[in-house]
Amino acid sequence: MKKFVFGNWKMNMLRRDIEEWKDKFFTELEKGLNEKVSVCIFVPFTHLIIAKEIFKNTDVEIGAQNMFFEEKGAFTGEISPLHLVDIGVKNVIIGHSERRKIFKEDDEMLSKKLKKAIELSFKPVFCIGETLDERESGKTEEVLERQLREGLKLLNSEEIKKIIIAYEPVWAIGTGRVATPEQAVSAHRFIIEFLNKNYDVNIPILYGGSIKPENFDSLVKNPEISGGLVGGASLKGDSFAKLVKIALNYIS
Ligand code: PGA
Repeated sequence: MKKFVFGNWKMNMLRRDIEEWKDKFFTELEKGLNEKVSVCIFVPFTHLIIAKEIFKNTDVEIGAQNMFFEEKGAFTGEISPLHLVDIGVKNVIIGHSERRKIFKEDDEMLSKKLKKAIELSFKPVFCIGETLDERESGKTEEVLERQLREGLKLLNSEEIKKIIIAYEPVWAIGTGRVATPEQAVSAHRFIIEFLNKNYDVNIPILYGGSIKPENFDSLVKNPEISGGLVGGASLKGDSFAKLVKIALNYIS
């Protein structure tokens, strides 16, 4: 099976950092990439073109961290999916928990974003995950089911096949508190079964939340976990390359 190692740079990385990242990444990666491991980094909007230029002629793909669901109009400060298409960016994160929490993006809005992304042939990474409160009150599966059902409601099975899901428990993001492999596998199984039963699809599901080279092996070795969406550990080219090397052990 193919594995995915995706980096979410969030609101970090200037031009000189990206150049240094690239050198360290390819030095650490020695043998280079393999088509069985897909690598994409999601960079701030202003640096999409810069990153595309720096990574041209490599197998590192570049993606955006968000997009709006309308194509144009009076939406000051928003980025149209057509702006991304215009610069050749086709990977996009939809519904990251920071967008949901800080910027109040709700299930309704995310369903429209996913619809638009598919309509314009993007490869969206749709993020879902429960908060600590929700986990502790036994609501993890209920929350995942709601986020999936609502987020995917405007899409049919053929369209859902074009999505990658990222399971990112909110309590694990940026906290250093990674989900145990058992917790992650159990959530992934729930998502796999839900998608199978309701849409008859089998799509990649990435884990995200405090991934590091030290804990990635125990996660990505499981067939239920197709790879990782990585925040903090994606900011250094060498540590990100280590994650790619780990994933390369589990392709088949
Ligand atoms: P983290 O972030 O790896 O820093 O926990 C993951 C994410 O937000 O996608």
